[in-house]
Amino acid sequence: MVGGGEGAFIGEIHRIAARLDNHYELVAGALCSEAERSIRSAKTLGISADRSYIDYQEMAKKELARTNGIEAVVIVTPNHLHLRIAEIFLKAGIHVICDKPLSATLEEAQAFAEFARKSDKIFALTYNYSGYPMVRHARALIAKGQLGEIRTVQIEYAQDWLSEKLEDSGHKQAAWRTDPKLGGEGGLLGDIGTHAFHLSSFVSGLQPTEILADLNHFVEGRSLDDNAHILLRFSGGAKGMLWVSQVAPGNENGLRLRIYGSKAGIEWSQENPNYLKFSPLGEPSKILGRGSPELSESAVKVTRTPPGHPEGYIEGFANIYAEIAHAVYAAREGKPVPHDVLFPDLEDGIAGMIFIEASLNSSRNDGKWVLLNN
Ligand SMILES: NC(=O)c1ccc[n+]([C@@H]2O[C@H](COP(=O)([O-])OP(=O)(O)OC[C@H]3O[C@@H](n4cnc5c(N)ncnc54)[C@H](O)[C@@H]3O)[C@@H](O)[C@H]2O)c1
Repeated sequence: MVGGGEGAFIGEIHRIAARLDNHYELVAGALCSEAERSIRSAKTLGISADRSYIDYQEMAKKELARTNGIEAVVIVTPNHLHLRIAEIFLKAGIHVICDKPLSATLEEAQAFAEFARKSDKIFALTYNYSGYPMVRHARALIAKGQLGEIRTVQIEYAQDWLSEKLEDSGHKQAAWRTDPKLGGEGGLLGDIGTHAFHLSSFVSGLQPTEILADLNHFVEGRSLDDNAHILLRFSGGAKGMLWVSQVAPGNENGLRLRIYGSKAGIEWSQENPNYLKFSPLGEPSKILGRGSPELSESAVKVTRTPPGHPEGYIEGFANIYAEIAHAVYAAREGKPVPHDVLFPDLEDGIAGMIFIEASLNSSRNDGKWVLLNN
């Protein structure tokens, strides 16, 4: 693991999720930006002293030289470091699991992609919300045509934790996220907008083609946007609306997806993730529950506990990790990623960076429509 040392947020979630199914063991780390904290963090986590590094470059070099060196690295640093770390590990022949967004700039992402597409190593990106069973079921319903022709995709991700200028209070997660050099110019688009954008096409199966964005920051003195209203056009004529906010009091991690077609509609919310509302036109709505045997194979496959025993954020994250593990097992035998294995990858990451860049471009031009192409 690179990043995720003491005081960090998401590193711990990755460690728990990765180990939930016994596919991974944490054996090495360069966990912090400072040497002393790195060493202390590694010790606390039971990483042996000879594999506790103070520099990720040294870690890649030394792990490559070991007969039992790491097979995969997890990158959970602030955004601007993701790809310089990823490149070093891919060059050392080590698979990469990187948190989102892909990077701080589209330019850097495209340069990396050119190199990474030629690598035979796995590059996975943790758009973890695509790991929920009911999200997988929603995707399967749409793929089977049960919603008919998709007409509208409504998605929102609302939070309230940046409603005041938290970055001035020494809150380190708020500080780097609101600094364009560290988090990227997209502000909240990189932080949570990319999750919502990814989910809109992952579930609908549609390709977003054009975007119109109205971005702003409501908190005085903040250099990046904390609220976004976005319109989307999809291939095939469907329309979408995406609202992302970090200044909406009362919202914690309010990721909510609604998709409506000519025959039915669905609704799902990540704060109540075990249920999916399915509304066939002209019939009473049904609340489909995780764990029901009538759900699609893709949902059953990522379900662990019977109905009524709630699964959530950690399990959804772990599902992504488990699928990546199956890709790693295949790679050990020189085989490609198995066709039934599903996890977000480099191309999803690039799509997220194009979404950010196009949104900025649209908003800076007072809301003109911008094509989402590479
Ligand atoms: N998938 C999700 O739901 C999700 C949620 C939160 C954060 N994230 C992403 O995860 C990443 C980390 O976010 P966070 O909130 O945990 O940030 P954080 O600030 O809590 O943690 C970042 C960690 O990286 C370490 N670090 C910085 N520079 C380093 C270096 N050169 N070498 C080694 N370690 C270094 C820091 O010391 C710290 O331990 C971000 O890219 C963020 O967008 C994803």
